[in-house]
Amino acid sequence: MLERARLPLPNEVERMPLHRNIAERVSLGLRACPWRALCESTWLSTPSRVRQATHMNAKLARIKRSFFLHRWWKQWLRRQMDSHGAFLRFPPYGARLHELATHTRDPVRFTTMALALHTVCKSNIPGSLAEVGVFRGDLSRVLRQLAPERKLYLFDTFEGFPNQDLDAPDGRFKDTNLDRVKAMLGDLTNVFFRVGYFPDTTAGLEGERFAFVMLDADKFKPTLAGLEFFYPRLSSGGYVMIHDYNSPESDYAVSKAVDKFIEDKPEQLIGVADPGGSVLFRRLGNMRGCN
Ligand SMILES: C[S@@+](CC[C@H](N)C(=O)[O-])C[C@H]1O[C@@H](n2cnc3c(N)ncnc32)[C@H](O)[C@@H]1O
Repeated sequence: MLERARLPLPNEVERMPLHRNIAERVSLGLRACPWRALCESTWLSTPSRVRQATHMNAKLARIKRSFFLHRWWKQWLRRQMDSHGAFLRFPPYGARLHELATHTRDPVRFTTMALALHTVCKSNIPGSLAEVGVFRGDLSRVLRQLAPERKLYLFDTFEGFPNQDLDAPDGRFKDTNLDRVKAMLGDLTNVFFRVGYFPDTTAGLEGERFAFVMLDADKFKPTLAGLEFFYPRLSSGGYVMIHDYNSPESDYAVSKAVDKFIEDKPEQLIGVADPGGSVLFRRLGNMRGCN
């Protein structure tokens, strides 16, 4: 590894003869970065410029660290994973949506959702989309772009878990608000926010039909309530995807709710190998005369 020489402090620079400072910095720059050396040899002709450059270097290093490491590097890694077959090679829903779904913190879940939405649209399965547990809208944004012509219902308090569902204090997911989610989604055509305690916020939607539902509320009560509300309103062939089924969180609250609900239903759960261990199922048979 290249040894990183310490940049001179502004007061050290002041005391140095200018020619020595420039020579030193050029040689340091050549070792570390030829581009920087070239700039410095032509531009650094006064102590005040040297001082400015020192500050600029520190700033640039900070920007480089945060931008390149956190964004470019992550994107590069995703592309590598993609080219090595970690994700779908031939996504049927198009390259732009594939890029959108894989450049997230949970690409396996998001691409599984994209496949489901693709089937929903291709097979003309009627109904709206819903997400219970939205937080900052990362998933809602992808969901919306996968099927912008469908109604999308978003259920959340937008201020964290409601107290009535908690056996023990859980302060996660408070750091959000409705405006932030709206900004994340951009165009809000066909998007309906149901703000407050779920399932109370389903009032008025009794006659609605759904084609894809994402349940991601982490706790027992809203997960079970979500299944009870959406199942009878799910079109034949429609999907329910439940996040965190294989998570020990809240004493396996999600798997307990799902197992309790599904035991007397004809549908079977299919596991997804995402970090939270999601499961999904598709509704069998006809629903109130719908295909
Ligand atoms: C894990 S986060 C959702 C993350 C989001 N689906 C994503 O992928 O980015 C869980 C969310 O469920 C919401 N939530 C949990 N129980 C709820 C309830 N009974 N009513 C409304 N919102 C609830 C919380 O406010 C929290 O924002």
